[in-house]
Amino acid sequence: ASGAQPYVPPASASLDEVRAAAPNCRGCELYEPATQVVFGRGDAHARVVFVGEQPGDVEDQRGLPFVGPAGHLLRRAVDAAGIDPAHLYITNAVKHFRFEMRGKRRIHQTPDQTHIVACRPWLVAEFARLRPEIVVVLGATAAKALLGPSFRVTRSRGELLPWPASAPNPGDFPVEPARLVATIHPSAVLRADNQEIAFDGLVADLKVVAQALA
Ligand code: URA
Ligand code: SF4
Repeated sequence: ASGAQPYVPPASASLDEVRAAAPNCRGCELYEPATQVVFGRGDAHARVVFVGEQPGDVEDQRGLPFVGPAGHLLRRAVDAAGIDPAHLYITNAVKHFRFEMRGKRRIHQTPDQTHIVACRPWLVAEFARLRPEIVVVLGATAAKALLGPSFRVTRSRGELLPWPASAPNPGDFPVEPARLVATIHPSAVLRADNQEIAFDGLVADLKVVAQALA
């Protein structure tokens, strides 16, 4: 298992064909304990692509990204920011749920850099077909996958930024003239001491996206 690349269909394949190939991926060890792969979903012609971390427990069971608690919160924030949810595509940096068992419970574990790198070819394949205008980077894992380890979400959140010249393998994400807005992960809002303030901060960042689309 040395990455997803051998499992990703060639450049001529459609987004649906890429999605159809993802269940066969053995690019890292995460496929084994997980229930199923969770690929991106949404409008193939989306102007905006949201990138999260990895599926959670609910997503792993349902096979769809952002359908659990973090997804519900994100949907509320998207609505509050005035972004049309019909024109989004939403995906994750890592496409299998990473967890550890604690008793009978499956506890989320943040993916390692090795998982992020292994899974990156799927993200690259999605971007090559979607070519979004704006990329919403949800939290540190998505930032690592897309922008490299030196990007700091907390420092750069809520700003409409050009794709940074320092991003690793810039040709991997052929999104020119795409811009990005980084913000906190919706799960971080759920974990915040003051959820209301954290939620308002997420909405404020997403309003920057809504404005850029107008
Ligand atoms: N958190 C994520 O990053 N992605 C999901 O799909 C669900 C929760
Ligand atoms: Fe493949 Fe990504 Fe799943 Fe690893 S996490 S098996 S690279 S789809």
